[in-house]
Amino acid sequence: RSASSLQQACLDTIRSDEDDADINWDDLGFGLVPTDYMYVMRCARDEKFSSGVLNRYGNIELSPSSGVLNYGQGLFEGLKAYRKVDDGGFLLFRPEENARRMQMGAERMCMPSPSVEQFIHAIKETIFANKRWVPPQGKGSLYIRPLLIGSGPVLGLAPAPDYMFLVYAAPVGTYFKEGLAPINLVIDNNTHRATPGGTGGVKTITNYAPVLKAQTRAKAKGFTDVIYLDSIKKKYLEEASSCNLFIVKNDVISTPVTMGTILPGITRKSIIEIARDYGYKVEEQLVSVEDLMDADEVFCTGTAVVVAPVGSITYQGQRFEYKTGDATVTRKLYDILTAIQMGRVEDEKRWTLEI
Ligand code: COI
Repeated sequence: RSASSLQQACLDTIRSDEDDADINWDDLGFGLVPTDYMYVMRCARDEKFSSGVLNRYGNIELSPSSGVLNYGQGLFEGLKAYRKVDDGGFLLFRPEENARRMQMGAERMCMPSPSVEQFIHAIKETIFANKRWVPPQGKGSLYIRPLLIGSGPVLGLAPAPDYMFLVYAAPVGTYFKEGLAPINLVIDNNTHRATPGGTGGVKTITNYAPVLKAQTRAKAKGFTDVIYLDSIKKKYLEEASSCNLFIVKNDVISTPVTMGTILPGITRKSIIEIARDYGYKVEEQLVSVEDLMDADEVFCTGTAVVVAPVGSITYQGQRFEYKTGDATVTRKLYDILTAIQMGRVEDEKRWTLEI
């Protein structure tokens, strides 16, 4: 390329970053919409991460024998940035919780991890560099996906020699195809998501591919997604493929207690706190299939999912239906949580980080 065509390409890039995003904001689901930049930071095993850079969003080069490709040495996180209406800023929800969860997971997976400050810095850089992709208020959010992977080569089973922390982002709307309408779940009592002593309680990439078969089977039968039971007694609820579970019976809200096989969701933790503030009794305990069948309401929580009402659950061919709609505890909790996340109410708990 001649110098002038390179200069032109550079100008085009700069111009395109400043243009409005070429996207229909009314048509956002949870598919990948590639954005402009990603943040990359590297370090060797036994070292600490120091500083990272913004690169154009695109493919990364990995050794065929990298730890992540061969042995699944990897973690991911998920968080969302919402656009504020008044001053052009953005709101993040409890990002330090994601940073700490990544540190816990890194310890479990023998990887170095970014500090809380480095993690939040990377998130901010990624949002600012992709700000044209943050949906207008009320249309969705920018979903931020941090990854921590063993990028260096290994052959014998061992921690990789080098690591990469990478953050990319994509604009998203609702997670399920149902939008905000109730979802229909099925209990799969043959597939288990996690086992005691395993990695169900940390956000390793290896927790997710093993449920794809059950999820695909369920979707083919018209269900939205799958609920998994504990692998020992096959009786207690664990979580759904991509989110935590809650049940409501009278004024008591219960959610499966996290004892290493269930992901300690940040939305889960926030909903527990909000519900207690609003006077509900919230129990973190073993929740059996019988408890589920007897519940008034069921809902799922997660960063991607937010708070999703469950309309029905099918177990061994029997379908159980739950209360949904405006006059539910589920709706109330959804409204309170999203009002905080989107900055529509005073954030008394100081959960949101304004950037
Ligand atoms: C999230 O809710 O952010 C998750 O990481 C779940 C993922 C499977 C979409």
